Amino acid sequence: MDANKKFRLGVLGSGKGSNFVAIAEAVATGKIPAEIAVVLSDVADAGILAHARERNIPAQFITPGQFRTKLDENAECAFVAALQAAQVDLIVLAGFMRVLKGDFLRAFAGRMVNIHPSLLPCFPGLQAWKQALDHGVKVAGCTVHFVDAGVDSGAIIGQTAVPVLDQDTPETLHQRIHAAEHELYPHCLAALARREISVNGRRVLWH
Ligand code: GAR
Repeated sequence: MDANKKFRLGVLGSGKGSNFVAIAEAVATGKIPAEIAVVLSDVADAGILAHARERNIPAQFITPGQFRTKLDENAECAFVAALQAAQVDLIVLAGFMRVLKGDFLRAFAGRMVNIHPSLLPCFPGLQAWKQALDHGVKVAGCTVHFVDAGVDSGAIIGQTAVPVLDQDTPETLHQRIHAAEHELYPHCLAALARREISVNGRRVLWH
């Protein structure tokens, strides 16, 4: 790759986009040496699209098709085409609530990362902060990991722990985890953009 060419991120999200905002700010201040090439969402009115447009970052809604938890074949093709057209180096899932499969995974194998609101491998899947609270753990947190064919199962890049307090509700715990995510994700993306990360089986090494 051309050493002068900036590392290009393609960000996917379905929700309000607070992680995207933290990433965009870290890019703007140079903390992440990269540019955000495109933002894509499966939800037409997702906050993440509005946050991207406010920053003049190309942002596009792509209709996900007939399924609830995954993309249909047409949608998968449309996402892959948009990401390839934007020439992204890394796909960044920031609250993207569909499982990626087949051609999508193959197109970007080893070049896709996700943030999950638990200390994986505990509590994969939906509403991980609520799963943590219901289970009664005393420490919760968030994980940035590579995406593989499983659900929240890829090699772990970074994790931050937060305490679970006796008076926590799902909302207060989720807020504390969110705040930790906004530090952890930019930190991991900066290392990836600087190519300071290598993978050895399940172990991700920081150089
Ligand atoms: C984040 O807490 C992220 O960890 C979670 O969705 C939230 C998105 O918030 N992702 C998952 O649960 C994926 N399995 P945001 O839209 O404000 O960044």
